[in-house]
Amino acid sequence: MTSSPANLYLDLLKKTLTFTLWPEPPAPAADPGARLSLLERAALGYVSGALERAEIGLFSTRQPSEEARREGRTWPAAAHTMIGLLRLDNLQACVETALKEGVEGDLIETGVWRGGASIFMKGVLAAHESTGRKVFVADSFRGLPEPDPKYPADRDSNFHTFPALAVPLEEVKENFRKYGLLDEGVVFLPGWFKDTLSDPAINKLAVMRLDGDMYGSTLEALNALYPKLSPGGFCIIDDYTLPGCRRAVDDFRAAHAVTEGVHAIDWAGAFWRKAKA
Ligand SMILES: C[S@@+](CC[C@H](N)C(=O)[O-])C[C@H]1O[C@@H](n2cnc3c(N)ncnc32)[C@H](O)[C@@H]1O
Repeated sequence: MTSSPANLYLDLLKKTLTFTLWPEPPAPAADPGARLSLLERAALGYVSGALERAEIGLFSTRQPSEEARREGRTWPAAAHTMIGLLRLDNLQACVETALKEGVEGDLIETGVWRGGASIFMKGVLAAHESTGRKVFVADSFRGLPEPDPKYPADRDSNFHTFPALAVPLEEVKENFRKYGLLDEGVVFLPGWFKDTLSDPAINKLAVMRLDGDMYGSTLEALNALYPKLSPGGFCIIDDYTLPGCRRAVDDFRAAHAVTEGVHAIDWAGAFWRKAKA
């Protein structure tokens, strides 16, 4: 990697979005990011009601390892993305290859949380002075859906019970604005994927990054968006390590005879590139 201004900017952007320039701040003990054991969590449950009534907060100061942060293995307290540096590197490589090789279309992330990975896609476009490509930002902005009986693979999912995964639209917009990356080229698609991803504004895609964790969220995104992915475009799956998500990907690929090889990014993510026509 060269130390061109664009690379230096993108490197700094990745470290800022992941908060890895600074120590992990204390996490509210009730958050999954607090890294408490089951026993500690049970003990906390015992006293938390009384503490809340007394307006006293409990925080965990336990530090994750450098490696865990690099690899996006934690739910960070302050970072704007939880995907870690390796998956941001992959995202940069995909977007830059699409730009260099003139793969047609916009960029989308389905499942954005605090917005960090989508902000990064916009940052890559800005660093390369690429105008004219939109970044679609799709999320309920209120967390994950309850399991839909239509998708048995999601039957035991409890992601919808985690308030930490519900980040309001205004907060995500504000995060884009803080980085100086909010403009008319950023298009927000608030709502459930089953209702939003068929938006005709999504016409042609060069990079689609799916981060909806569940079988249904992943399959709905693949069904709606993969037909719009240009030849040579990239399909990135953040949660290939989660059984429901992996199953959705494998089912979709089998049903649509997608044979391009799936490459691992790190312990969690994977991607493939649609064959050029
Ligand atoms: C793990 S977080 C995404 C992490 C994010 N990409 C990052 O960079 O940190 C999953 C997100 O997917 C969203 N989500 C999952 N399923 C959804 C669905 N069916 N419709 C809308 N949003 C969904 C949740 O609201 C949540 O913000």
